[in-house]
Amino acid sequence: MSTTMRRNVAGAGLFLAAWLGLAAALGGSTQPIRARQAMVVSQDAIASAVGAEVMREGGNAVDAAVATAFALAVTYPTAGNIGGGGFLVYRPAEGDPAAYDFREVAPAGSSPTMFLRDGEYDPVMHHSSHLAVGVPGTVAGLHLAWTGHGSLPWARLVEPAVRLAREGFAVSDALARSLAGVLPRMAPYPASVAQFSKDGEPYAAGDVLRQPDLARTLERIAAEGPDGFYRGETAALVEREMAANGGIMTRADLAAYRAVRRAPIRGTYRGHEVLSMPPISSGGTAIVQMLNILEHDDLAASGFGSAATVHLMIEAMRRAYADRARHLGDPAFNPAMPVERLTSKAYASELRRTIDAERASASSPDSFEWPREGGETTHLSVVDGARNAVSLTYTLEQGYGSKITVPGAGFLLNNEMGDFNAGPGITTDFGLIGTEPNLAAPGKRMLSSMSPTIVTRDGRLVLVTGSPGGRTIINTVLQTILNVVDHGMNVQEAVDAPRIHHQWLPDATRYERWGLSPDTLALLEARGHRMVETRVQGAVSAIYYDAEEDVLEGAEDRRRTSAAVGF
Ligand code: DON
Repeated sequence: MSTTMRRNVAGAGLFLAAWLGLAAALGGSTQPIRARQAMVVSQDAIASAVGAEVMREGGNAVDAAVATAFALAVTYPTAGNIGGGGFLVYRPAEGDPAAYDFREVAPAGSSPTMFLRDGEYDPVMHHSSHLAVGVPGTVAGLHLAWTGHGSLPWARLVEPAVRLAREGFAVSDALARSLAGVLPRMAPYPASVAQFSKDGEPYAAGDVLRQPDLARTLERIAAEGPDGFYRGETAALVEREMAANGGIMTRADLAAYRAVRRAPIRGTYRGHEVLSMPPISSGGTAIVQMLNILEHDDLAASGFGSAATVHLMIEAMRRAYADRARHLGDPAFNPAMPVERLTSKAYASELRRTIDAERASASSPDSFEWPREGGETTHLSVVDGARNAVSLTYTLEQGYGSKITVPGAGFLLNNEMGDFNAGPGITTDFGLIGTEPNLAAPGKRMLSSMSPTIVTRDGRLVLVTGSPGGRTIINTVLQTILNVVDHGMNVQEAVDAPRIHHQWLPDATRYERWGLSPDTLALLEARGHRMVETRVQGAVSAIYYDAEEDVLEGAEDRRRTSAAVGF
């Protein structure tokens, strides 16, 4: 067991993993955690153990991902959820891969101008109100993926989450700190204060957190499937909370929600195949576009972290994020999106020709501040004994989403409507871009950056990866791939390595503290780049498959909580 995991589990999860006989093998500082049979990497030790146990009982990677995701909704409430949405990319050892889109949608009462009050943009309405809540997709999405590929009974996969909610679990140090931090912002919502504190007093590490209302909701989901969430008592409780507080979501919105199975985005990079999330995520499209651009240069030769390599990465990022803003939104509302062109080798060649190896390009006049961005999304990677792989990222948007717990139902609602653009033509100091493709409309999905990704080579699994981090997700996943493919790092080194981020606007590059040497920074600045230090970027949960040895290697991201559990 790695030190990170030991730190995170604070007793209970450690005991659980040991009790279940799961080998969360010894990971050295730069060594991944190895397992022969199956592995789950998530941001919570208890949830990873739940998923690994499902596979030890004979469940497959999809079963384990579903069980882990439900467990995270209990043990990792900052981002684990049933009141949010996300994406799952599935790559079976045999047969066709699939992408599951369970992104939230805008309620029927939505409109492009819904976040304007008297013509003025209101960020509180957009990000921190009942209007910020999109129709949740998680339960429908997990169920759709399970319907397609699951092997154990649905109720078996929800049951560990029910038990963790009903009987409680020991609060880790990280969770205690996180809950104490969010408590003031939960103050307007008594059901949230009741669920996540001891009568207003923060939980301490080692206290047992029980969530009885959530347990009952999960029991309905276990017994009835999605109907236990989208209809009946749960839907009535959501509608009541909305109606009493100026929200617009109704029971009819919930009943109408559908997860969608889509064809993954596919690209190639130096002999590898990349599978990732298609729109309504911008992630897969942008990652493939950047890989195609970077394939024109020998990054192994220019070297990790050199000014020459970082310059090319920044220029690829600038171009992909500009195209993201210009073109991407819900495909159902933007039928002419040029995704095929954006991900083509020919287009990448054209873009590469616009990059000067010695000079930074300009984005456009810089009137933006950095958008708000935290790590409040979560990613999990799963590989089973047959080498089926699942890459799943889901979110409530900000940490604890809207901070609104549905009274009587015990789950947090997302504030994902904040991912729509603010209003027609509106540009905000959060860096929102007022372009047409991503304005709110009834039943529309909001543009996402979540990028669950799987890399293969010669038909065999290589890497399962993904991360939280808002718009930085795309670049974090890109760099994990470059680190493995170009720089030959093992998966733990690839996750540990410092990251950079450029997103077209603002026209500046963030780099992790200590990530670039002063000489390298000087060389980049001389090329015309504005470099800004940041603390951390992302929290990758990744699994590498060593086909020669037939061994799985899990990487924990020490930037945040993380736990690889396998056997
Ligand atoms: O879908 C998205 O791209 C965002 N809602 C993800 C949010 C996230 O990673 C947390 N940080 N803001």
